[in-house]
Amino acid sequence: MKLTATLLALAAGLQVTSAFPHFATEENYQKLAARGMVKQRAPSNNPARKLEVRDLIGGLLQPLTGVLAAIDLPTPQNQVLELVPDAAHPYKAPGPTDIRGLCPTMNTMANHGYISRNGITTFAEAANGCQQAYGFGYDLCTFLSALGLLAGGDLVTGKMSISGPDARVPNTLGPAKGLDNHGPFEIDGSMSRNDTYFGDNHSFLMERWNTIRDFAKKYDNGNFGNAMWKKERKATYDKAVATNPEFYAGAKYIAVSIAERAFIPRALPTFKGGPSPGIPDAFNVEPFFLNETFPANWFKRGDPYGLVGLAGDVVDYVTDLDTFTKPGQNQGIGNFVPFSLDLPTEPYAAGCFLFTTLADVGAGGLEGEAVHAIGQVVEQIMAPLFKGAFNCDFSGTNTPSSGSGSGVNGG
Ligand code: HEM
Repeated sequence: MKLTATLLALAAGLQVTSAFPHFATEENYQKLAARGMVKQRAPSNNPARKLEVRDLIGGLLQPLTGVLAAIDLPTPQNQVLELVPDAAHPYKAPGPTDIRGLCPTMNTMANHGYISRNGITTFAEAANGCQQAYGFGYDLCTFLSALGLLAGGDLVTGKMSISGPDARVPNTLGPAKGLDNHGPFEIDGSMSRNDTYFGDNHSFLMERWNTIRDFAKKYDNGNFGNAMWKKERKATYDKAVATNPEFYAGAKYIAVSIAERAFIPRALPTFKGGPSPGIPDAFNVEPFFLNETFPANWFKRGDPYGLVGLAGDVVDYVTDLDTFTKPGQNQGIGNFVPFSLDLPTEPYAAGCFLFTTLADVGAGGLEGEAVHAIGQVVEQIMAPLFKGAFNCDFSGTNTPSSGSGSGVNGG
């Protein structure tokens, strides 16, 4: 699979979806320059250059440089079968200035202090908490956290809100909109949250949960395995096609709508009985959604679930013809316009599909350091993880130039 159109467009600033819809301001640029983090450049004249993908060292990212130099890196966490939460992470209900968002497991991490209880986290903290609390691998947790950062964080400090924009997150390169930001990561057709078109895309909806429970009863003996999630995903898609005039089901929809559902059987059953605990039941799953806490006596998995596992799950969903969701978009109700996508049917292609699709957060309307920083997150953080796991072909992938005295120091 060639990594061409989307990332080339990102490099050229041609995408319509934007993580930071405003240009980097002169004021922000001067702030960076004062810190010695940028030098003079002429953004619009930047030639694209090939992605220079570094290798992982011992499976880990190398220190970040240039505009990303101030961001802390995640570290590998102890991955063993263990009781979660431990004594150091008791549940505390969110206080008046603590914020919660659209990811039930991020909210649970915040309620237990695996990430900051106020809901303002960082790239490293979220990736570390994800490993500690759920037993997902360093590669997948780092990738998810990088995606969150690209979608709605501040690329210079690495801070992000797990909800909407927040004054506690700086807007160094442009507005940091938080994980709620629709498009780069947040999608239509989620599980327990509404589509952005209807207004609130981040609050838990009990009626959705009741539907999910009905699917569990009908298709999975009351359990929450992939059999019922595939049916629920297709039904949610059908409903969105019928009711959301702006429903968008492109590559990102496919990647995220599958990943979030496949995560349930991968992360939420209690693993007390060993690495294969079976299908999660209501006792395992409901506390995460209804109370944003862990079930009593819950053991996280000891064998990390990583990017390779996720790629396999994507293939499992995409190749299930009964629940296949045709890529396309609504241009008004009753006018679903399909488009063709090269969907992966084996895990290697699925891994590279995830990279191509999710690393493309778009850069429409952006110039200068914001575009450059997005390219650097893709180059320095995301691509090495996929090079390590899948050895994707990056030969057709470009990023904005940092050469010829026009870029970021060390970038
Ligand atoms: C740093 C790590 C993570 C980040 C930044 C993150 C971010 C997000 C975002 C932006 C969404 C919204 C997607 C949508 O619009 O449907 C989401 C949803 C979701 N995430 Fe996470 N996530 C992380 C880790 C995890 C983990 C480890 C799990 C494991 C179970 C998980 C489970 C889910 C689920 C189930 C949803 C769907 C919620 C619903 O609609 O009901 N996430 N996450």
